[in-house]
Amino acid sequence: MAIERTFSIIKPDATARNLTGKIVARLEGAGLKVVAQKRLRMTRAVAEGFYAVHRERPFFNDLCAFMSSGPVVVQVLEGEGAIARNREVMGATDPKKAAPGTIRAEFAENIERNSVHGSDAPETAAQEIAYFFSAIEIVG
Ligand code: CMP
Repeated sequence: MAIERTFSIIKPDATARNLTGKIVARLEGAGLKVVAQKRLRMTRAVAEGFYAVHRERPFFNDLCAFMSSGPVVVQVLEGEGAIARNREVMGATDPKKAAPGTIRAEFAENIERNSVHGSDAPETAAQEIAYFFSAIEIVG
């Protein structure tokens, strides 16, 4: 399988509970390498731009309020089949449906406060990485 890069966010519910290190350990344990990482607080406008694809969804406003409510850790993860591997280790969006042992099954509070985000396809991974990182910040 090809070496890929994917984009990941450790969300405000997780940083608030000091879970950054535990989540990074899960990602690394799954064979993903952190090749870029920074902690920041999104403005409302930055969150709205990031989630623009969900603009018409009923949860959009609450989601953007939550994502700008506290610090996040944005990351670029690299590895074989990194997009699918990250989605596997995160588990389903809704923690009630997430497989046992996944990050969301273990740490997420609910479908909104679900601890992590990961890109769903190569095109979105490239877009999401470029939204937060410049090329010089990514070191494989
Ligand atoms: P994420 O992978 O960051 O992508 C969009 C986010 O919207 C999702 O994780 C959830 O945190 C959030 N969300 C809130 N409500 C819903 C819902 N009903 N269905 C899907 N996603 C939701």
